[in-house]
Amino acid sequence: MTSAVHLRSVVKRYGTGESVMTALSGVDLSIRPGRFVSLIGPSGCGKSTLLRIVAGLEQPDSGEALVHDVTPRQACAAKLLGLVPQTPALLPWLDVRANVTLPLRVNRSSDRRRRRILDEREELPPVDVDVLLEKAGLGDAVHKLPAQLSGGMQQRAAIVRAFALRPDVLLMDEPFSALDEFTRESLQDQLLDLWDDLKTTVLFVTHSIAEAVRLSDTVVVMAPRPGRIVDVIDIDLPRPRNARLFEESRFHAYEDLIRERLHDAWHLTDAA
Ligand SMILES: Nc1ncnc2c1ncn2[C@@H]1O[C@H](COP(=O)(O)OP(=O)(O)OP(=O)(O)O)[C@@H](O)[C@H]1O
Ligand SMILES: [Mg+2]
Repeated sequence: MTSAVHLRSVVKRYGTGESVMTALSGVDLSIRPGRFVSLIGPSGCGKSTLLRIVAGLEQPDSGEALVHDVTPRQACAAKLLGLVPQTPALLPWLDVRANVTLPLRVNRSSDRRRRRILDEREELPPVDVDVLLEKAGLGDAVHKLPAQLSGGMQQRAAIVRAFALRPDVLLMDEPFSALDEFTRESLQDQLLDLWDDLKTTVLFVTHSIAEAVRLSDTVVVMAPRPGRIVDVIDIDLPRPRNARLFEESRFHAYEDLIRERLHDAWHLTDAA
């Protein structure tokens, strides 16, 4: 089976001469279709850089990144990739529904490319955007402008917009970091719901250990200077992962394990 995301010996440097810094050093990562994978690690360890390389927004200096065996740019052109940035980036002059459906209305020829890459014989049934909006708790807000929404609602609209394209691979860079704990947990529920329905592959960046354990099949721990992967931990907990999970000792055992690995990662540098 081909990987949904495949990184091989990816190196990314910024700057030149004396001031060169290695944002990613020899990163290997393979993600099977449909998996939920989180990246966690200290600030500056290259999580966003890695995500941008998978999104085709940056090129590695060496090594390669593939999405279903094609380059990220080809995957983007075929609408295989969705990106939820840290800030929702909705267009202020469009209401929620128009924002969410915008990607569906541009570049329709991508559908054929997508089927060729994924080897799909038939056209996928379109996602019902209104059902997604309802599921995300935005049913009453479809005709509101972004400025009339709370931060959490805007972020939900951005998530629905990403899912509406039915991307095969969804990249999310700390999408919930600006939200309070309760909103965050409820958005995690909604994300898991949508993920479960649409079987999307997710690569998710977070600083929250609890969030990584709750959401993921696999947690990838990174260390800085140079940015690299130091651990890959499979989370063997049953799904659905609802609030009862927090009472389970196994959940906390995973949290402790990842905290320990992150602690090690803080102290891992070239100089060490
Ligand atoms: N465009 C750029 N030009 C120069 N340096 C950059 C650029 N983008 C990232 N870097 C550097 O690369 C390193 C990794 O940055 P990156 O944004 O990937 O880290 P991160 O793990 O996402 O951090 P955070 O958790 O703070 O978001 C950092 O040292 C950063 O300063
Ligand atoms: Mg970042």
